[in-house]
Amino acid sequence: MFARRAGWDLTPNALSERMARRRAAGLPVLDLTESNPTRCGFGAPSQALGEALRRLAGDPRNLRYEPDPRGDLEARRAVAAFHAAQGAALGPESVVLTTGTSEGYAHLFRMLADPGDVVLVPTPGYPLFEILAGLESVEIDSYPLRFGGGRWRLDLDALAAAAARPGVRAVLTVHPNNPTGALTSPGEAAALRALCRERGLALVSDEVFAAHRGAAAPPDAPQTLLPAADAAEDGPLLFALSGASKLLALPQLKAAWIAVSGPRTLREEALARLEVIADSYLSVSGLVQLALPELLRARDVIVREVTARVTASRSRLAAVVAASGQLELLPSEGGWAAILRLRGAPPPDEDAFVAALLDGPGVAIHPGWLFDVPPEDEQGRSVSHLVLSMLLEPADVERGAAAIAAALGTQRGARSSR
Ligand SMILES: Cc1ncc(COP(=O)(O)O)c(C=O)c1O
Repeated sequence: MFARRAGWDLTPNALSERMARRRAAGLPVLDLTESNPTRCGFGAPSQALGEALRRLAGDPRNLRYEPDPRGDLEARRAVAAFHAAQGAALGPESVVLTTGTSEGYAHLFRMLADPGDVVLVPTPGYPLFEILAGLESVEIDSYPLRFGGGRWRLDLDALAAAAARPGVRAVLTVHPNNPTGALTSPGEAAALRALCRERGLALVSDEVFAAHRGAAAPPDAPQTLLPAADAAEDGPLLFALSGASKLLALPQLKAAWIAVSGPRTLREEALARLEVIADSYLSVSGLVQLALPELLRARDVIVREVTARVTASRSRLAAVVAASGQLELLPSEGGWAAILRLRGAPPPDEDAFVAALLDGPGVAIHPGWLFDVPPEDEQGRSVSHLVLSMLLEPADVERGAAAIAAALGTQRGARSSR
């Protein structure tokens, strides 16, 4: 009855079932996986949205339906101005609005890949790519980021080898990566551009977290992979994805975009095709498009509030980690996630540890495998990882981290008394 692309295993995930059971029993859960900013008590996004909606209420343009497949021109101008402020050369004609970055991926996969073709994605990485590609009958293959010397680095040799495989159409890069928080360095950006240009592959740069940089962000890391004016002609066909869900901490707005750069003829051909795809759905609400320019003007205030939270939560986490002596916090340059490394001989089983943490102190956290965080360190020793969100209040992060450290201590105690 159902297509292979919808042949998912629909058995509920063991962890969400555990969490639901706990909540149904009236027991509290401290959810360290919370990455929905609307549940994290931010003021600036709601204030900006409230003001934009109030202004919009009296706007006569609300009552008209004049869809433009690429999106309302004023909204696209605002997006182009945002990228221009990052140093990119981009006109509003090179922007296509979508309801989310996820929809942007769908448009790109449809345009760039036939069923069975391959897109390359980084690991560790965001687990949604497999589903998004699968929905378009596109395969994913991965290339590794490797942690060493205090930073995650793109393995360029492994990427070049993966790009040489048959059927590869595009390389995805996430800047900064979720969950490692690694920003693409200038050298990595140049290498990605050169590889894609040489092999005729599209480069897709997911920049949803690009404005959310931490204190450890190298000052020379690019703001965007979209090139300045003189570099576009010599570069690959490049699509930068971003949107309100992370940039403005307003996922409910459902507003995002694809910004297109590259040699002129190729860029225009891509835009004409994207326009046909977007025109088939006209999915972005007219009201949201009208609100977008004003909301984008509020981005600095919003990013400041979110960055302050992430910084404060991370520093509380670092303090608990330092005091515990048995956890390691991997460095991050941007984004909202943190990765904890657990050692031991053997290190704790990620699933068992996560389950025990939920059943015991009621703390929910992601196992590292969910994001393909590799189970070895740079010396090849077995390690485990946990991934948590830094959007929560610092006090909650501290409480959760203390519970993790305590659980690790108990496990150690249990092991050594055996
Ligand atoms: C790296 C990355 N890209 C894209 C998305 C999806 O964003 P959107 O809400 O715009 O679809 C997410 C959401 O968490 C993400 O982490």
